[in-house]
Amino acid sequence: MKSQKFTIAELVAPVVGLPTVEIAGLVEYPPNPDLGDLALPCFRFAKQLRKAPTEIAKEVAAVLTESGNFKDVAVAGGYVNVYVAQGAVAKEVVGALRTEPQNLFAEKRLIGDSAAIDYSSPNIAKPFGVGHLRSTMIGHAIANLLREDGSRVIGINHLGDWGTQFGKNIAAYRMWGDEETVRKNPTRELLELYVRFHAEAEKHPALDDEARAWFKRLEDGDEEARSLWQWFIDESLKAFQATYDRLGVHHEQVLGESFYNDKMDAVVEELKEKGLLTESEGAEVVDLSAYDLPPCIIRKSDGATIYATRDLAAALYRHDVLGGNRLIYVVGAEQTLHFQQVFKVLELMGREWAKDCRHVAFGMMKYNGERLSTRRGKVVYLEDVLEKAVAEARRIIDEKNPELPNKDDVAEAIGIGAVVFNDLKNYRMHDVDFRYEDVLNFDGETGPYVQYTHARACSVLRKAGVKDNFDSSSASDVVLQPSEWRLIVEMNKANEMFERAIDQLDPSLIARLVLDVCHAFNRFYHDVPILGADTESEKEFRLELTDASRRFIAYCLNLLGLRAPEAM
Ligand code: ARG
Repeated sequence: MKSQKFTIAELVAPVVGLPTVEIAGLVEYPPNPDLGDLALPCFRFAKQLRKAPTEIAKEVAAVLTESGNFKDVAVAGGYVNVYVAQGAVAKEVVGALRTEPQNLFAEKRLIGDSAAIDYSSPNIAKPFGVGHLRSTMIGHAIANLLREDGSRVIGINHLGDWGTQFGKNIAAYRMWGDEETVRKNPTRELLELYVRFHAEAEKHPALDDEARAWFKRLEDGDEEARSLWQWFIDESLKAFQATYDRLGVHHEQVLGESFYNDKMDAVVEELKEKGLLTESEGAEVVDLSAYDLPPCIIRKSDGATIYATRDLAAALYRHDVLGGNRLIYVVGAEQTLHFQQVFKVLELMGREWAKDCRHVAFGMMKYNGERLSTRRGKVVYLEDVLEKAVAEARRIIDEKNPELPNKDDVAEAIGIGAVVFNDLKNYRMHDVDFRYEDVLNFDGETGPYVQYTHARACSVLRKAGVKDNFDSSSASDVVLQPSEWRLIVEMNKANEMFERAIDQLDPSLIARLVLDVCHAFNRFYHDVPILGADTESEKEFRLELTDASRRFIAYCLNLLGLRAPEAM
């Protein structure tokens, strides 16, 4: 559902000759209600129209008045102040939320689109670090957003299951590994073996040769090498799956890098045919100097293909076989150059859809201010972080609401929600610092705060003894209190923020939106008596507003991948 902002912008567009979205961006919500519910400054149009802003404001006001959409329209200098029929707007917003919350957000602009989204994509034989959480949750939220707007989403887990490090994993396991220990704790144990291998190889360089030999055997299909490698994959996947289950994350396709082993010759052939391959120091590369990029290495001097070659083969597969008409990669900002190279090579190969490929980058995850690194084994395990967050949440519930019946389940929803929301609430390019005190603070801008606000709305409705059967016929006669109107205004930004989040592939806009709605709801809750309202019709309306808020908040939480417990 479009907001009043857009209604205004649509009416004004023909007058000032600018695109609707641009005008919508100029419409303000004046802090002082005397200046209208909405205001449009006309200064920006003066240059183009060669008229004084006041003149333009008068013309704009005339058009808005004539539309009959507004209660009152007034000119104040270069501003047009618009007063809306608050009760009618409230009724519309509440009504939309009651029938189908997503109607307020999505207009199904993306029907016919199909987006292949690469997210999470952890590496086999290494634990899922908190850094991979970012890709997982940002990707999951983007997938949800696109799906709600009508896109056919193909979520892809591009597991790191190939590369020379598997030679090291195999060599290390054969020297020091033990089946039972690995089975119990696959990714941690395999990482430990890997770290130990690095330490030992510094003292005994011959170990590196052995690792290389094992990788060669793996490539050649040697049975022992293959079966150990496959076992590492199976065990790692089991561990990852447990994490995905807790996070509620699912991929349509799980296709590791090794899946493209037999699909890369075709890529190399095509590059050769098109005259794109050149030799550089024994390696085969695509020269990208004309585009100010370093060469994209396709085949190393020893004949091995690499990460980029796999990504080329994977891109062709996602487009040609899986039917993705645009490819999205949710991967850390440190891989920006890699994706620039891959997209450029696809373009040079004549794939016109390369222009629709997007690298959705994000900043680092720091843990109490420290960076993470796998190589040196300094890793914070996501499982531990989730476990501790849930335990903390449980402790808080025991304190705040010891009578709650399903404490474990609620603690799980809150603990996980705290971690996830913290990750999504800031613009994705910003680094995220993780501290338990902050993410679990019920009064901060946190997941638990949003969940708590939702539970508070549910509790009001429980006390009132109402279920889902409101009749909002009275709303349009109600004179709204300022905090009620504020809440409606915030919820009425849903469509605008939702579309911006999709266009910028940035879920933090939804997190901001729901935080603003929660602030507005809590102000309403404190300022206005709901159950103790003076008249029945006021009480009825406030309960409807409470119900609409709860639906709004739950919808946003679910978009972001959080649960919305009804009591906590
Ligand atoms: N496994 C890689 C890593 O952990 C991320 C893969 C991203 N996806 C891709 N198509 N390259 O760094």
